[in-house]
Amino acid sequence: MATGGYGDASQKIDYVFKIVLIGDSAVGKSQILARFSRNEFSLDSKATIGVEFQTRTLSIQHKSIKAQIWDTAGQERYRAVTSAYYRGAVGAMLVYDITKRQTFDHIPRWLEELRAHADKNIVIILIGNKSDLEDQRAVPTEDATEFAQKEGLFFLETSALEATNVENSFMTVLTEIFNIVNKNNLVAGDDRNNNNNPGSLAGKNIIVPGPAQEIPTKNRACCTS
Ligand code: GTP
Ligand code: MG
Repeated sequence: MATGGYGDASQKIDYVFKIVLIGDSAVGKSQILARFSRNEFSLDSKATIGVEFQTRTLSIQHKSIKAQIWDTAGQERYRAVTSAYYRGAVGAMLVYDITKRQTFDHIPRWLEELRAHADKNIVIILIGNKSDLEDQRAVPTEDATEFAQKEGLFFLETSALEATNVENSFMTVLTEIFNIVNKNNLVAGDDRNNNNNPGSLAGKNIIVPGPAQEIPTKNRACCTS
């Protein structure tokens, strides 16, 4: 079982997993992130401009995992360069608003962008946010379940406002990534100190492996390569 706190900076880190949030503007990406990283929520959240990220360290099977969650603008005019945003991501959360049908209808486009720019083995979860607004629901749960099944995605409905399933969504993605990495490490033998073969999702250095490999988050901003 996984556990996690909100601010344990001195801890040794076994893995850093980059996860990206995508989806239309105002579906609640930034508030899902605020809920997960700081246990906060704001009703008058401003549209994101450019790219931001937050981290939270938690443990899965006694390993310390730093989740580095990237958030960008849903609005096209505010979005940062796509390839830089997706670079190194091992997980993605594809978010729509259950009260706005259009945000769900755009999901195939977001999936296309993801498949064009991200690693092909990236772990993806579809998220129907604002489940607290059941009386305004415009997307039946079954529509999303069916779509997720067809596309091979995880799926959960969340409420950042009520803190429903937010933790669960991140843990679903992080645990799946962890299991893939762990399995690869087993296949490769005890190989965690070998930077050339970190047991990444696609054999590239997209996961920061092993002990003492923490990269200062400040230097991990986008756009440097
Ligand atoms: P962009 O940054 O423009 O891409 O939007 P975003 O997806 O980051 O949306 P944001 O998190 O800023 O939320 C948009 C609005 O929806 C804000 O008013 C939030 O308070 C509200 N909101 C977010 N999550 C929920 C939720 O779970 N329930 C309800 N009722 N409102 C929410
Ligand atoms: Mg935002």
